[in-house]
Parts: sequence; structure tokens; C-alpha cells
Amino acid sequence: MPLKGEVTISGSKNAALPILSACLLTGGWHTLDNIPKLKDIWTIKEILSNLGAAFEESGQSLKVNTDNLNSHIAPYALVKTMRASILALGPLLSRLGKAKISLPGGCAIGARPIDLHLKGLSLMGADINLEHGYVVANVDKKLRGADIFFDIPTVTGTENLMMAAVKADGITTLHNAAKEPEVVDLANMLKRMGAKMNGAGTDTITITGVKELYPVRYAIIPDRIETGTFLIAAAITKGKVRIKGCNGDHIEAIIEKLLDIGTEIEKEGEDLVAIGHHTIKSADIKTMPFPGFPTDMQAQFMALMCIADGWSVIREAIFENRFMHVSELRRMGADIKINGGQALVSGKRHLSGAQVMATDLRASASLVLAGLVAKGKTEILRVYHLDRGYEDLDLKLSLLGSKIWREKQ
Ligand code: EPU
Repeated sequence: MPLKGEVTISGSKNAALPILSACLLTGGWHTLDNIPKLKDIWTIKEILSNLGAAFEESGQSLKVNTDNLNSHIAPYALVKTMRASILALGPLLSRLGKAKISLPGGCAIGARPIDLHLKGLSLMGADINLEHGYVVANVDKKLRGADIFFDIPTVTGTENLMMAAVKADGITTLHNAAKEPEVVDLANMLKRMGAKMNGAGTDTITITGVKELYPVRYAIIPDRIETGTFLIAAAITKGKVRIKGCNGDHIEAIIEKLLDIGTEIEKEGEDLVAIGHHTIKSADIKTMPFPGFPTDMQAQFMALMCIADGWSVIREAIFENRFMHVSELRRMGADIKINGGQALVSGKRHLSGAQVMATDLRASASLVLAGLVAKGKTEILRVYHLDRGYEDLDLKLSLLGSKIWREKQ
């Protein structure tokens, strides 16, 4: 059934996580607006609470106070549920000179090492050891500025080192830094706190350490992956959806691809209006760091290509195991062949509803999208993955006219 109506985009998960971690850098009450209600946000709050942080919540705003940090440890029980917990490492080293963070274990989408975070922090003078499954990091006096070259641009690695550098002695330069909008959002928050930095959004970021930072009020950017997911929801159901409160500049690569396959997209201020048409043309994608096509939209785009006219080649170039949704989409009748890091999708007229299993956050979203157009009922198990990164996706979709509900809350 074509989706029709308006949907409002929530705050960005991947911007809110580092920004909440940045509150560890200095005491006082920080106020963060546009915080999404997500499981991953709950997890980072648990990590900060364990370290001694206090919170006051009111609607989409969250007040955070880290005056009384009484621990430097992020335990396995929390880190194992969310790898982004490693974002506490840089700020803790900066504020307390020590941190003990459980090493994130395996992940459904790839090995996801953190060697580049650790190498950068070592260059800044941290002594880092791996002990009993934990990263144990200490600094003798103070972190010092350094010239750091990432051989691969890493989003959370860039964010961790930015936070470590803001109060370090001297100048830190991050070369081949990640350019994602979430990195820029963190930089804007840090600058408002008093940090001296420039270049965020380019591949070279320079940070001059300052003596003091101050608590601030800051609003998180809209979630570009949620925006992209609703654009695809409009395209796949051949509907018309006004997506409110988003930033089209953050998703140019997705918009371009959807225009190529025949979706109409109009930018109207902070809204995007997407109109899906009867024929969905096929198109190839290759995932790339920003501003390329984001890996976090690969699974959703694949769901769309499953009902496109013709063949498409989908190359995953960021994570080595991010095709877990393929076997589930096949259970719904999709024709997909995997060859190394690429999937060959032959579009079919129809998908058929089936019981499927969500394996990670974005894979769950792709199954929901496929379920919107599959004939019959689709039942998605392990849907808790979805709640890590989409605020009320089921509710938002049902307000747009889809028949979607949770069997259990
Ligand atoms: N990498 C290394 N060594 C490192 C760090 C990264 O080899 O020390 C490699 C990774 O294995 C990967 C590539 O570098 O091949 C890029 O990974 P990156 O570090 O950029 O990923 P991340 O910071 O762990 C963030 C997002 C992910 C998103 C990726 C890529 C957050 C909290 N997470 O992860 O979001 O897929 O960037 O854009 O910002 C999601 O929201 O579903 C999600 C997985």
C-alpha cells in the first residue's frame, strides 16, 4: 500500500552518542536537545551513569552533569551491547588521565577493530595495554598534541581523538579524518564548549588544546539514515511522503541514487517530499565514507532493488560482513547472489511475506521495507535490533498508512 502523509525525523543516533560522551570532558549541567529515544542512547547513558554522571530528562531534551565522576571503567556487560561505548575512552583520558573500557567483541557486520583509536591515543602519550579483555589506558601527566594519520577514515576513531585532543598540550592534527556530518556536529558542540578546532568536515582537522571547557546547550542534527530510510519507504511503496525536519545536504548521495531510479524528490526548506513511481529502475551502488553512499543505507537500498526493473550490483566496501540481510530477503523471494564483497540483485515483480530474522540494526530496517511491499504477512523476529537506532519506526510507518504492529512490547 502506498505510504502517504508526513513524518518527522528524530535526532541522529550517531551524533548523539559522541556528543553525550563529550559531556565527560567537563563538569556543570549540559543541555542536549533533539535526543532520540533509542536503546543505544539508553546504553550510553548507563555507561555515563556508571562513571558518576547524573541526568534530567524532559521530552527530547536531556540534561547531563558529570561533576562527580567516581569511576573510569566501562564494563563488558554494557560495552558488549554497543561498540560505540569506546567513545568514552578519549574524554576519560582527557578528564581523569585514566580509562578502562571493555574491548568491544565481535560484531554482526564485521570485525571492526579499534586499533586506529589506540594508535592515535598512544601517539598523544597514553600508555595503553590490553588486560583481561579491557583496554587499560593511562596518561602520566597530560595528553599532548600529535600528528595522527589514519590509514582508513574512521568515524568513531576521529571523534575519540578529537575529544582527547581538545584539552591536550599543544596542537593535534588528524589526517585522513572522517568527514561525516556526525563528526562535524561533535566538532560544533566541542567548539561551543570552548574548544579550538578547525577543519571538521574536511579530511584534516586541527585542534589546539585549551585549558578549560564549559557546559553548554546544544541541539543534535537530524538523523540522516532515518531520513534515507523514509525516502526508500516512499519509493518502495510508490507513495508520497513529506519528511519533515531533515537536512538534505547530509544525504546527497542517497537522493542522487533515488532520482536515478525514478523517485521524485523535492527539497522544501527543512522538508523533503518523496514521490515513488510505478517503475523502479535498477541502479548500482558502492558504499563509501561520506560524502559517498553510506554503508548504513546499503541494506535498505538492497530491499528496494529487490523489486526494481533489472539487475543491480551492490558493493559493500566498508564492512566485510554486512550482507546478513541477504539470506532473509531471499526467504521473501528476492533473487540475490553474493560474490565476495558484492551482491547481484535481480529485481522481481513481487516479494512474498515470510518469517524472517533481524540480525543487526540496518538489516532490520531493510526487512521492514521489504515487508511493506511483500504480498501477505511478514513477521520479523529479533526486532529489538531496530530499537537501537530507529525511534518509533513502526508507529511512524503506521501513521503513514502501513499495516505494521508489534506482537509484544
Ligand atoms: N577500522 C579499522 N580500525 C579502526 C577503526 C575502524 O580498521 O581502529 C575500519 C573498520 O573496520 C571499517 C572502517 O574502518 O572497515 C570504517 O569504520 P568506522 O570506524 O568508521 O566505523 P565506526 O566508527 O565503528 C560508525 C557508525 C556506524 C557506521 C560506520 C561507517 C557510530 C556510532 N557508528 O562506526 O554506524 O556504519 O561509522 O559509517 O557512529 C549504524 O548506525 O548502524 C552503524 C553501524
